[in-house]
Amino acid sequence: MKLTSIFYLLLILLGGALADKTLISTGLTDAQRQILLDTHNKLRNQVASGNQSSQPQAANMMAMNWSTALEATAQAWASNMSTVMTHSGSDKGYGENLAESGSSDKNDYDPASHVQMWFDEVKLASWQTSYINNYQFGSSYGHYSQVVWAKSNSLGCGHSYFFDGSYYQHYTVCQYQAQGNYLGQAVYVQGTPCSQCGSQQCNTQYTSLCGTTTAVNTGNSPSQGGPSSYSVIQFITMTILLINLLY
Ligand SMILES: *[C@@H]1O[C@H](CO)[C@@H](O)[C@H](O)[C@H]1NC(C)=O
Ligand SMILES: *[C@@H]1O[C@H](CO)[C@@H](O)[C@H](O)[C@H]1NC(C)=O
Ligand SMILES: *[C@@H]1O[C@H](CO)[C@@H](O)[C@H](O)[C@H]1NC(C)=O
Repeated sequence: MKLTSIFYLLLILLGGALADKTLISTGLTDAQRQILLDTHNKLRNQVASGNQSSQPQAANMMAMNWSTALEATAQAWASNMSTVMTHSGSDKGYGENLAESGSSDKNDYDPASHVQMWFDEVKLASWQTSYINNYQFGSSYGHYSQVVWAKSNSLGCGHSYFFDGSYYQHYTVCQYQAQGNYLGQAVYVQGTPCSQCGSQQCNTQYTSLCGTTTAVNTGNSPSQGGPSSYSVIQFITMTILLINLLY
């Protein structure tokens, strides 16, 4: 079997121009980590419970925990602005979602909105419920399928914040284990929530997810500044998608 990764730009390069970016900060607060984790668990529970329009219930969807190991690799990638809006590579052993938001105003980071942007691909006509049993490749919905991939029970994210002279930009990189988006595999097993949790109990807070989730408590804070500027290709891309194809 061969694992190949392909990424797609969902929107168009803004002329492909080089722009100088100044790094304002990198990293997350524990409150932001918790929001990223909670938003994933809340949205997973929404699908697993059958409360998401047109999505069948999930019998085996795991709750997620924060992984400091995945955060370390996600943050290294988020901090690497020469390449941040491409994926960090194939065969790394984790799934990866990227998001960017920008504003001409100096704006606060809203991590939940980045996760929501991935999740909202569920509403696309290209996403078909038959793919839940038998995952098929598509360029438009791969963030959603990774967010709700049943076996992914570990999440770690990184964040970087830049100013390019015109726009304040927040980047989020989230990485997942078990890795999702395998062609031909099930996104999740359909059925009564928590009926296929294996040795795990049903979660008491997210009552349609399997297993417990632990509160985030790393004590680590964002770092201010960094190299004074980067020359990078300026994207208006909102999201980039990685689909892992298993042959
Ligand atoms: C289902 O959706 C309704 C309406 O949005 C909401 O009030 C309710 O809390 C949701 N229940 C679950 C289990 O997500
Ligand atoms: C950053 O990007 C460069 C250029 O693609 C790459 O060679 C390097 O390994 C990356 N560094 C990290 C920490 O990912
Ligand atoms: C989350 O971490 C706790 C503590 O390590 C562990 O007991 C639990 O099984 C994990 N939950 C999931 C869903 O993997």
